[in-house]
Amino acid sequence: MKTNSENKKGFLPYGRHHIDEEDLEAVRNVLLSDWLTTGPKVEEFEQELAKISHTEFGGVVNSGTAALHAAMAAIDIKPGDEVIVPPITFAATANAVVYQGGVPVFADVDPDTLLMDPDKLEEKITAKTRAVISVDYAGQMCDYDALTKITKKHGLYLVADACHSIGGAYKGSPSGSCADLTVFSFHPVKHITTGEGGAVVTSDKKLIEKVKSFRNHGINTDLHERQKAESWYYEIEMPGFNYRLTDFQCALGISQLKKLESRIHRRNRLANQYDRFFEGMDGIAPLKKQAFIAHAYHLYVVKLDLDRLKRNRLEIFSFLRNEGVGVNVHYIPVHYHPFYQKTFNTHRGLCPIAEDAYERILTLPLFPAMTEDDVKMVCRHIKSAVSSR
Ligand SMILES: Cc1ncc(COP(=O)(O)O)c(C=O)c1O
Repeated sequence: MKTNSENKKGFLPYGRHHIDEEDLEAVRNVLLSDWLTTGPKVEEFEQELAKISHTEFGGVVNSGTAALHAAMAAIDIKPGDEVIVPPITFAATANAVVYQGGVPVFADVDPDTLLMDPDKLEEKITAKTRAVISVDYAGQMCDYDALTKITKKHGLYLVADACHSIGGAYKGSPSGSCADLTVFSFHPVKHITTGEGGAVVTSDKKLIEKVKSFRNHGINTDLHERQKAESWYYEIEMPGFNYRLTDFQCALGISQLKKLESRIHRRNRLANQYDRFFEGMDGIAPLKKQAFIAHAYHLYVVKLDLDRLKRNRLEIFSFLRNEGVGVNVHYIPVHYHPFYQKTFNTHRGLCPIAEDAYERILTLPLFPAMTEDDVKMVCRHIKSAVSSR
């Protein structure tokens, strides 16, 4: 039976963007205006992002990766500086440290949530540590009280990779408000999209000024300030990049942001439907949800008890893919990648909890346009996958 959100080939992906008429109109209006890039929509989107994250400033860039890079540059990560990151994340988190010549140091995760374990983090701090990047994996925010206590004690910056958690909250504080700098991504599988895009939010004026200069070649004034002053003059103190986000992408972001709350609500509803199904199932369980967070559910991740199921993950994965269920695995531990092994001497055994989890996790389809029937269809195929032989 085909359900509403399967694509033309009858395949239900793990994530999918949603664009409506209001989005199209917003983009169209900017495309027909005087500003295609760095116009009024950039500032408006930045203000909206600051507002929803209870911070003072936003700086948009053209990807979440660029936002992480800009954050590392803003806190002045230099060659040899160590930055502690979790291994269960998209490689961009650690790559951003490498772009600055820094050394990513991997601290293991909590087995139930796969979020950075504060005790494991503290064990990794050395005299060279300058910062920590926490990752709100799957949309569940880390324990920011515990992380902040440690980073404050050791005089470190805390950067939140919140590419999964925009719209979520920790003890009532929204994603974006719990670290020195927070990074969002607007890639199409995320909660809101600008095609490609990302942002940094912070309440530190100096840090946001550095982010904004870094995204624009390192130029120390913005175009509009120069125009107001009727001056061509600017200076470059540190070469930056062209990481600018276009005005029409920001118009799309503003329009998408209006739907963030309802989308988070819908993701939670669908996740609850999955939860209820797994309550009655042996051998498969979702990651633990902590009581003090409002989950943003970027991903719905389950852990397989492979001994009990008497199957390997690949068998289950392939069965589901054959049935058109777009399961995925997030993520290959970053320290497994050959670059990290060759450059930083990382190896299997470095983060045993993350490594064990990696063998058993599976991401199920979850996006707001999915229907209850889609979830039922996924659950039905999961039942068959674990019972068929
Ligand atoms: C945890 C995490 N960090 C960083 C990124 C990078 O974001 P982008 O794809 O927008 O560059 C992603 C995107 O997949 C991510 O999931």
